[in-house]
Amino acid sequence: MKATAAEASLGVFDSGVGGLTVVQAITELLPNERVIYLGDTARVPYGNKSPDTVKRFARQDAAFLLGRGVKAIVVACNTATAFALPSLVADISVPVIGVLAPGVETALARTKSGRIGLIGTAGTIGSEAYQKAIRALRPDAHLVARATPLLVPLVEEDWLQHAVTRQVLEEYVRPMLSEGIDTLVLACTHYPLLKSKIQTIMGRGVRLIDSAQQVAQEVRQVLIQEGLLSRDTKKRSTREYFVSDEVAIFANVASRFLGE
Ligand code: DGL
Repeated sequence: MKATAAEASLGVFDSGVGGLTVVQAITELLPNERVIYLGDTARVPYGNKSPDTVKRFARQDAAFLLGRGVKAIVVACNTATAFALPSLVADISVPVIGVLAPGVETALARTKSGRIGLIGTAGTIGSEAYQKAIRALRPDAHLVARATPLLVPLVEEDWLQHAVTRQVLEEYVRPMLSEGIDTLVLACTHYPLLKSKIQTIMGRGVRLIDSAQQVAQEVRQVLIQEGLLSRDTKKRSTREYFVSDEVAIFANVASRFLGE
């Protein structure tokens, strides 16, 4: 029974294309896993929608993946994790892994001063889910949280090298330096693509926490714990992509997110 379940696919969903940064990290770490990805491109962005709407969308995304027989679900979207993870975990019988806990744990392990910056969508920051999770583990943490809603469209527009993007980043993150942060959590699927730009502004004294890499580690751990890790080397890097809107638009942006 377990052996068969272990060879089922891993389901990953996001509001759109951004969760591919998580797929990329998972397939690098776990090349034997077959991944089914759902990008809800018809309803993206989730970052500026109400908690109830995001919860409803997340339930529907998870139901789609469950209908394809996945052995576990990764909620690759930070906004969906912030609003919907507890209810998904409660309602779904397979393991559900979000992007919040891995990012928070890594940030707390890396910070020396306990002064932590946090950037994400308006929904993620407004939910206070990250702030509560950090304070639960480290009550004396000094948090500097900022919603950075202009970054998602800039990344999707492929303006990574554009002067406007640099200017927007300067506005958003430079003030955090005067708050003395030593760690900055990139709490959004799209931000890993801006990592080097953000690092240039923040300098070497600030560690950037890329939740995509940490979540891949968490997925590995959960699959091992549950006896669900695939051993089938023939499946190497098999990925299936589904979107809820036009495929051509997704394919164009997706290739950049996956670097292929
Ligand atoms: N995937 C979203 C997140 O990580 C960003 C894009 C959106 O707003 O839907 O929060």
